[in-house]
Amino acid sequence: MNAAEYDTWYETPRGRWVGERETALILEQLQPCQGESLLDVGCGTGYFTRNLAAAINGPVTGVDINPEWVAYARGRDPGKTTYDIADARALPFADRSFDLATSITALCFIAEEQTAISEILRVARRRFAIGLLNRHSLLWLREGKKGGGYQGAHWHTVREATRLFQDHPVKNLRVNTAIQIPTDSEFARIIERLLPPTLPTGAFILVTGDKADMGKGGSD
Ligand SMILES: C[S@@+](CC[C@H](N)C(=O)[O-])C[C@H]1O[C@@H](n2cnc3c(N)ncnc32)[C@H](O)[C@@H]1O
Repeated sequence: MNAAEYDTWYETPRGRWVGERETALILEQLQPCQGESLLDVGCGTGYFTRNLAAAINGPVTGVDINPEWVAYARGRDPGKTTYDIADARALPFADRSFDLATSITALCFIAEEQTAISEILRVARRRFAIGLLNRHSLLWLREGKKGGGYQGAHWHTVREATRLFQDHPVKNLRVNTAIQIPTDSEFARIIERLLPPTLPTGAFILVTGDKADMGKGGSD
């Protein structure tokens, strides 16, 4: 799939709904302060990077390993957001360079996910949000199992998602999910609004937490 095809999905009725729900959950759980800096790792076409930049209004950088998608993201967002080619497993930034770090459904495509998590947490100063795909979800049963548009992705369970962070300097870890019903219907939207994000069965898992590196000169 090319960048334009991928990004255009977010403009379909279903894509818009999914994108809005996931963005709302990210912002609710990330709790950004206005003007904070943010790094979005595996930003792809920049859909979430753009949404986060608009909400936070601070310096935002998106990085991805795919040059075509980085070029597309730059073209879609000629504002102050910076887009660069970078590998999540070796981020070209100093420790604690960004107040916040996000990575939305990118770790699912990186075999060395622990290396990527170490890197994301190394460059973050205050708080992080990592989006993953949920193997215990209706979307997995309907599409993930067969590959579909998620070819090559690793689908985690909520328990696995939590365990990913157990040996890292984090605190106040929270796991929420969104997108309980993988169809484009008003019924799905009603159910989605009624169910709490703590339910472990949404297709989108979001792990959030604070950096726990007290004593390194930060305010945490
Ligand atoms: C499913 S897309 C998600 C893109 C975007 N975050 C979104 O949610 O729309 C996964 C992204 O991870 C990127 N990716 C895969 N391996 C990577 C790596 N080692 N470093 C950085 N990005 C990587 C891919 O190029 C792709 O853009």
